Amino acid sequence: MKINLSNIKKAKNILDNQDCVAIPTETVYGLAANAYSNKGVKKIFKLKKRPQNNPLIVHYHSINDLTKDCEINSDFLKLFKKFSPGPITYVLNLKKTSKISNNVTNKKNTLAVRFPKHNLTRKLLKLLKYPLAAPSANISTKVSSVCYQDVKEDFGNKIKFILDGGRSQVGVESTIISLVNKPKILRLGGLKVLDIENCLNKKLSLKLNSKKIFSPGQMKLHYSPGIPIRLNVKKPNKNEAYLLLKKKKEHKDFYYYLSKKGDLKEAAKNLYSTLRKIKKDNFKSLAVEKIKNHGLGKTINDRLLRASKFNEQ
Ligand code: TXA
Ligand code: MG
Repeated sequence: MKINLSNIKKAKNILDNQDCVAIPTETVYGLAANAYSNKGVKKIFKLKKRPQNNPLIVHYHSINDLTKDCEINSDFLKLFKKFSPGPITYVLNLKKTSKISNNVTNKKNTLAVRFPKHNLTRKLLKLLKYPLAAPSANISTKVSSVCYQDVKEDFGNKIKFILDGGRSQVGVESTIISLVNKPKILRLGGLKVLDIENCLNKKLSLKLNSKKIFSPGQMKLHYSPGIPIRLNVKKPNKNEAYLLLKKKKEHKDFYYYLSKKGDLKEAAKNLYSTLRKIKKDNFKSLAVEKIKNHGLGKTINDRLLRASKFNEQ
């Protein structure tokens, strides 16, 4: 994408004034503010209606910037070299001297950090004197945004500026790995766990539901298009939308497919926009066919399972 410097400068001015800007990333759009500013970070929580106890990811341009705030280790360096910038978030120990706002971390002594790949956002980060705290740019519990229009739909004019960077190419959030003690996957995402395991040359454990935030065994509603979802469905009910991995030969009006040929990477990229489309087309419920549970299929299934918690509300 061609870089429009005046838009980047506009975003910078707003951020310098401790306000929020939506930024494009390769995973999903983020709602960003100066991670060192209590005022800016508080605005993020308010706009998203996000519970205070859910900490934010901080976005950096380079390792040099990161080392002001976090302790790094050898596993981090291995992964960074191979996958960053890209769809991976590292949880690291926060340095005592760090200026990261307490509102970002909910006073934890760890910090989730990421190096986004989108060239507009990298250019912006390079110009700033601070890193950007940025959760996904959507109302809390709802589907994330993967383009300018999605952010506009969720926030209207409440956000001063949306830096338009086109469509997010990965389409699902980053994979989160904790490197604080033994490496652990905390969230499935745009980078396959197997790729991370191969890089570290070890099998990783998964800890996908934080007990600190949710009670054990309970999974919180997330990524929801705001309608009930049924999973692993062979035959949809009347009036239901039917979400398919792969385009079927025969087409019906209520069929929505994630990828023409059943490619999981393409399916992940299309997941959120398809969920938004189904809601806009006014379907009151959604049935999903069984989706292969390997590679990025695991991330897609994780998102759909969490979105299906809508049924239990
Ligand atoms: O791809 C992404 O990661 C996007 C783009 C905008 O970068 N961001 C994103 O942020 O997905 P958000 O806020 O929607 O999700 C951040 C997740 C939350 O589940 C939060 O609980 C977890 O990261 N998190 C943040 N800090 C943490 C920490 N110190 N330890 C463990 N989990 C943490
Ligand atoms: Mg989110």
